[in-house]
Amino acid sequence: MNNIRIGALISGGGTNLQAVIDACESGRINGQMVFVGSDNPKAYGLERAKKHGIPTFITDYAEIIREFKTGRLSMPEDADINELLSRQSLFQGNIPSEKARAFVMTRAIAERKLLNQMASYPFDLLILAGFLRNLTPYFIDRVNTDSEHPRIMNIHPALLPAFPGTDGYGDTFRYGCKIGGCTVHFIDYGEDSGPIIGQRSFPIEPDDTLDTVKKKGLELEWQLYPQCIQLFAENRLKVVRKMYSLENGKTSERRSVEII
Ligand code: GAR
Repeated sequence: MNNIRIGALISGGGTNLQAVIDACESGRINGQMVFVGSDNPKAYGLERAKKHGIPTFITDYAEIIREFKTGRLSMPEDADINELLSRQSLFQGNIPSEKARAFVMTRAIAERKLLNQMASYPFDLLILAGFLRNLTPYFIDRVNTDSEHPRIMNIHPALLPAFPGTDGYGDTFRYGCKIGGCTVHFIDYGEDSGPIIGQRSFPIEPDDTLDTVKKKGLELEWQLYPQCIQLFAENRLKVVRKMYSLENGKTSERRSVEII
């Protein structure tokens, strides 16, 4: 089996990145990490990558957002703000339109830079490993050039569709859930809403704290992410569309992943 080329985007410590690098090196993933990019210049995961001789780059989102406010930056020529806003399903009408415009514009500017940097490293699969920035359709469509074969994966610290967002374990713990978990899914235009590839769960006991919940969850993430990536490498992930009849007589269409 040929090795797949894997690119990774991170924002922080990179323990998932480390788990994937180790799985590639030990042969549990038929793959090779070809780049690690970060929106955060201080992400420790960049050091992890360098230790393994993996090329790294930084797209400093915070800097881009600051510079945007000075009026010196403009949208990429091939981006249409109105079209992006209409397809971006993150806001669901609950954020003022000027704010939403500025959000999408700054992200598309950052994403153009990301795409330029990634262009030096051809890849088969892009994994988000603790990358804490939303991606817009501008970026997603330029990576997912074949809509039947998505190739951006994310790991999320909750049992989706419960608790999307930036604090999955915290939200799970504070809600008083008796079970927590993690999810690997393909990215779509929504927030943590894309087709689910794999999930793992763990019990939350009365004496657990947020720290112990995070520890239990992360240990499962380090197993689950390499397993899902290996399924991709083996070409065993098939995205299917299914129609469901609802009790109210309407139908609902959902994309999901079959493991073949
Ligand atoms: C992980 O728990 C991952 O699930 C989460 O960030 C952490 C990164 O840890 N991702 C998200 O919350 C994405 N919305 P790491 O840098 O040690 O891999």
